[in-house]
Amino acid sequence: MCGIFAYLNHLTPRTRKEILDLLIKGLQRLEYRGYDSAGVGVDGPTSNANITLVKATGKVKQLEEKILENKEFLNFDGVHTVHVGIAHTRWATHGAPSDVNCHPQRSGENNEFVVVHNGIITNYKDIKQFLISKGMMFESETDTEIIAKLIKLIRIQNPNDGFRQLVEKTIAQLEGAFACVFKSTSFPGECVATRRGSPLLVGIKAESALESDHIPVQYSLDEDPRMVKHGASEVAGSPAPRKKTSAMFRVDADQTEEIHPSDGDSVEYFFASDASAIIEHTNRVIYLEDDDVAACKQGVLSIHRINREGDSSREITTLKMEIQQIMKGNFSSFMQKEIFEQPESVVNTMRGRINYEQETVTLGGIKTYVPEIRRCRRLLMIGCGTSYHSAIATRQLLEELTELPVMIDLASDFLDRNTPIFRDDVCFFISQSGETADTLGALRYCKSRGALIVGITNTVGSTICRESHCGVHINAGPEIGVASTKAYTSQILSLVLFALVMAEDRISLQARRSEIIQGLRQLPDLIRKVLDLDGKVLTIAKELYKKRSLLIMGRGFNFATCLEGALKVKELTYMHSEGIQSGELKHGPLALVDSTVPIIMIITRDCVFTKCMNALQQVTARDGRPILICEEGDTETMKWSEHALEIPRTVDALQGILTVIPMQLLSYHLAVLRECNVDCPRNLAKSVTVE
Ligand code: G6P
Repeated sequence: MCGIFAYLNHLTPRTRKEILDLLIKGLQRLEYRGYDSAGVGVDGPTSNANITLVKATGKVKQLEEKILENKEFLNFDGVHTVHVGIAHTRWATHGAPSDVNCHPQRSGENNEFVVVHNGIITNYKDIKQFLISKGMMFESETDTEIIAKLIKLIRIQNPNDGFRQLVEKTIAQLEGAFACVFKSTSFPGECVATRRGSPLLVGIKAESALESDHIPVQYSLDEDPRMVKHGASEVAGSPAPRKKTSAMFRVDADQTEEIHPSDGDSVEYFFASDASAIIEHTNRVIYLEDDDVAACKQGVLSIHRINREGDSSREITTLKMEIQQIMKGNFSSFMQKEIFEQPESVVNTMRGRINYEQETVTLGGIKTYVPEIRRCRRLLMIGCGTSYHSAIATRQLLEELTELPVMIDLASDFLDRNTPIFRDDVCFFISQSGETADTLGALRYCKSRGALIVGITNTVGSTICRESHCGVHINAGPEIGVASTKAYTSQILSLVLFALVMAEDRISLQARRSEIIQGLRQLPDLIRKVLDLDGKVLTIAKELYKKRSLLIMGRGFNFATCLEGALKVKELTYMHSEGIQSGELKHGPLALVDSTVPIIMIITRDCVFTKCMNALQQVTARDGRPILICEEGDTETMKWSEHALEIPRTVDALQGILTVIPMQLLSYHLAVLRECNVDCPRNLAKSVTVE
């Protein structure tokens, strides 16, 4: 999905080369989100009375090369004491990837207003029509261009407005989802950022210590830009807004008095779609809320809103992320690194939550809600992609340990229906990023109907985190590879921990709880053993990589592995792959089986073992030659195949965490052998913030 990065240096002299390098580095950190073109906007080479845009279709590397080719023109050695630079990676939605569709988009040929945007403006056609009727000419096919043109028109009609007020009036006209950062030649050294539905955070790096952990929100109730409609007369007739002085984030203890920076105070601000682009500069960040407008003027950051919804201040959070966590280290791709991190990431998910001696489990984020959850009518588990698979992987255990009905749903499908939701429902929203548009849409639907909302996410401060009543952070660490791996195993684990919490006071379930808790203790070592299969998986990948299709079969606790394995193969290798419930073989898939079609079968010695063996015999009887993922030493099963990947035995409910790892490794090796981009598969994005 699109990525935004912007940098403002105030009284911090930077050469133009430094600024451009910083913008490029910021974009590189966002590359994993998926994109097809990139661009930057900086002050003109010799003056801030104009803005220079550099854009390139393709990778950030191409943009970097274009900047280098133009280093004379761009005046690399020029120094700015105060400067705003904005940058963007685009993931095409409206209009093909091309330089003209790439951001920043502009208000006109003189680049008076330029904007970078993440999200989709759903009413852009109406606004475009209106702007065309005002004589404005469009150059791109994007929805974003209307934002740049609209702010220009509002500026013409409200010449006395400040930059922030213009942005407020602009976004009041927009429908859909967006995060935007604006820059303007009319307001040099100023930057305005805003969001609705798409994530945006502000990093602050100041020489002097921040005097407060909060920045108060300023309200603009008396200058409601929603009064300004598309109709020309209404725009022209709107009252001049009342001027307000902005408050600074460095405020005194009781937050009543504004403090303006003294002459020597240097400060830098970073705006980004996610923390990975900011962490190398500062760990002090503010997560903007929907409809916040953050304005930087003369080094002062202020946050404004039209209405008084939500908290009256924004917390300055300290990021816990380490820079090494977003570096590849010795691995060839982030995905490979993340697969191999799983022995540690599962420990991080469990850390401080399990007491193995007393066999207790504590989830601080939902603790006070547990009695309410125990009384609920049913549990709903909703997510997209891999996150949805983690719901499938744990449904059986949740049903067993909670004795409640458990409904699972794909967020998009859930939103397509008018699903009845009740006040005594408990709805889980599972999302690695915490920003997925469909999942968030489903969350808001359930919340508006009074259900209790539980977020299961990997991103502290994400929208799903903030909009949930309670939740569990999976603590898997940043996941950069588009294909989710360590987040999946940690999501499963978090839901297993939840199931254990729910069964804590059930005498009849104590033996089962105990077995699972002791199984969790062994898990990191068992994952290490599975990772040792890497060489063997590579050998299998070499036999498979030229094939066109791969079927993955299993049932019970391993069915989710089939779906997740097939998803990994599809997204990374572009091969056809299908996860098949072995119980459904006779209802169709068996027709696909012959001696040529590649098949993987997952068979572990759990309560569906005999049924799985039946399926294996049905497949081999049709000349199928399946590769097996089975339990260590299970010679009875292994004799049916030339290739078997033996995984250590664990409790049935945890088996899916182990069986998915060979599938992750296989899809990785297949992708490398097929020369596919492992971290950024074509057409896909890490964080899908549009429906
Ligand atoms: C995208 C990603 C997947 C991810 C899915 C859900 O499709 O490519 O890896 O599983 O979104 O994302 P979420 O952040 O909500 O878990």
